[in-house]
Amino acid sequence: MIEFDNYEIFITELDKLANYDFKTYTDSFIKRRIQARMTRLNMRKLSDYLHYLRSNPEEIDRLHHDFSIHVTHFFRDKSMYDVFMLESLFHLLNEKDKLGDRKIKLWSAGCSSGEETYTIAIILLELLGNRIQDFNVEIVGSDIDKAAIDFAKIGKYESSQFKETEKDILDKYFQKTGEDYLVIDEVKKLVSFKVLDLLSAFKPRNLDVIFCRNVVIYFSQQVKETLFSDFYNCLNKEGLLILGKTETLIGPSKDKFKMLNIAERIYKKE
Ligand SMILES: C[S@@+](CC[C@H](N)C(=O)[O-])C[C@H]1O[C@@H](n2cnc3c(N)ncnc32)[C@H](O)[C@@H]1O
Repeated sequence: MIEFDNYEIFITELDKLANYDFKTYTDSFIKRRIQARMTRLNMRKLSDYLHYLRSNPEEIDRLHHDFSIHVTHFFRDKSMYDVFMLESLFHLLNEKDKLGDRKIKLWSAGCSSGEETYTIAIILLELLGNRIQDFNVEIVGSDIDKAAIDFAKIGKYESSQFKETEKDILDKYFQKTGEDYLVIDEVKKLVSFKVLDLLSAFKPRNLDVIFCRNVVIYFSQQVKETLFSDFYNCLNKEGLLILGKTETLIGPSKDKFKMLNIAERIYKKE
């Protein structure tokens, strides 16, 4: 059994060593990850692991990686994309049409290796068809993990990433190269990727839609509340916020959003 005595001191020291605020995550999440590493290293005391971290700087990178869970795939939770496309996005584009507003800006925050970001681009192409040329579309994918962003920029994926993708979509928007599938340029040119810590001060602004799915799940309550309030400020009026299926809007900003679809976690800024 791992002894978690002096846990607070350990976290303070870890933050200093890694130059990162690990309190972003809940204690139980941190403890599970640390426990897995210590068991692997055959250690029982936090002080021993701290000593190991000090003398093996690469363990910090390893820990960072273990804290980032990158699981994702194209059209993940497909029912959300169906509702988003047929109801929310359709309505949003109609409203823009009426106002003669041709700019649409979407942010895939915590996009991992890019599947979510490219899925959003495909949804827009499906909905707008040739009319997409009349719009100024900007889709930004960001993640804290540079390796994930580098991978996203290449846009080449294994077949396992398409378990919720319909065959005609796969054929239309991807080019088969050997065993893998490459995103075609028509999709690629709608998106850009950048490395970004969601908890840093910088965030894209004037957004119509923010997707932040399966990212905040391990963030502490306070971090979530601050982030949701930032999201509110980054969105245009009537802009949409979409969370993961097991995530819920909490804190003061909860009352400033209207719940559009509870099952799909789609919220609208009022
Ligand atoms: C499970 S993936 C979610 C991918 C995609 N949104 C989806 O739902 O399929 C979670 C991603 O959040 C990223 N992440 C975690 N903390 C972050 C932070 N502070 N800033 C930006 N990205 C973060 C991780 O690196 C990881 O790639």
